[in-house]
Amino acid sequence: MSILITGGAGYIGSVTVEGLRTNGETPVVIDNLVCGHRAAVDADVSFHKGNIGDSDLVRRIIEQHQIEAVMHFSAYAYVGESVADPGKYFENNVAETLRLLNVLAESGVDKFVFSSTCATYGEPEYMPIDEDHPQKPANPYGWSKLFVERILESFDVAHGIRSVSLRYFNAAGATEKHGEHHEPETHLIPLVLAAAKGERPDVKIFGTDYPTDDGTAVRDYIHVSDLSRAHILALEYLRAGGRTDAFNLGNGNGYSVRQVIQAAEGVTDRKITAVEDKKRPGDPSILVANAAKAREVLEWEPAVKDIEEIIESAWRWHQAHPQGYADSRA
Ligand SMILES: NC(=O)c1ccc[n+]([C@@H]2O[C@H](COP(=O)([O-])OP(=O)(O)OC[C@H]3O[C@@H](n4cnc5c(N)ncnc54)[C@H](O)[C@@H]3O)[C@@H](O)[C@H]2O)c1
Repeated sequence: MSILITGGAGYIGSVTVEGLRTNGETPVVIDNLVCGHRAAVDADVSFHKGNIGDSDLVRRIIEQHQIEAVMHFSAYAYVGESVADPGKYFENNVAETLRLLNVLAESGVDKFVFSSTCATYGEPEYMPIDEDHPQKPANPYGWSKLFVERILESFDVAHGIRSVSLRYFNAAGATEKHGEHHEPETHLIPLVLAAAKGERPDVKIFGTDYPTDDGTAVRDYIHVSDLSRAHILALEYLRAGGRTDAFNLGNGNGYSVRQVIQAAEGVTDRKITAVEDKKRPGDPSILVANAAKAREVLEWEPAVKDIEEIIESAWRWHQAHPQGYADSRA
């Protein structure tokens, strides 16, 4: 039996493929490479280039590889773009997922792990955020993920597909083999490291008058290997008969933009120029996870808690792959 990884040529999916293989599982990847990289998937992993909404292709993959469960990473994930072009997000993140789920229901694949997000909570009403926090997304990206969570609940009732929705906070860091290569890049740590490398003149700080210690926004950074391990634990939970549920994945520690820049200067031993810019609409001041439920139910414990360690792993990957996956293109 194999595990189908949608979006396995992307950042978190590729690290999870690596983690599954270390754990003796057989991952099979489907990715249309719209955002991902063929080189992010090892040559000896079964790879199918295509859309998750291509029902005939998905049916063939399920049959050919005897798919037992799906880990669903594929999505568009740019908040700003989702505001400008919501249709693109609802089509790719919701409608394509629905097509995938219909094929799973018809094929009897009954275990599903979903990449959800803290963006489903919207503007925080209290901190740290637990799973009972109201879900009122502030943008179409967050809505697209919340719609899928609701669809999954209905597909459990109607078709017996049990699912785990993992609400990640800010994924960061790298393994030796796999790292973050987005085009365009919008995540803070790779942007800070690009500035350290001199590929960008500076790093923008969006907002310096937030009600935080240093006035800049605070986020919860979680190492991508810890996310990968949470997926494996979620799979084991579903195999053991666990019911459909949602879990936050975060460290529970918040770091401000200035703290991240300072930590990166320490790790890289380079000066990073920061330029103050105005706040972006819809950016909350603080987003920190309460991940007690994942600790208790999935027995998940993040191994990397230190921001320096997270940045160090990303820095090592960027040093080894100066052009990201473009280095590996034959
Ligand atoms: N990176 C984060 O901090 C973060 C935080 C919360 C949630 N998430 C979610 O985690 C998931 C993975 O994030 P990531 O940073 O690895 O993203 P990514 O863009 O690196 O990976 C997504 C992959 O999905 C593929 N894809 C997109 N639409 C597809 C389709 N219709 N059919 C087939 N393949 C398709 C892309 O080519 C890409 O390889 C996403 O669902 C994202 O919303 C990410």
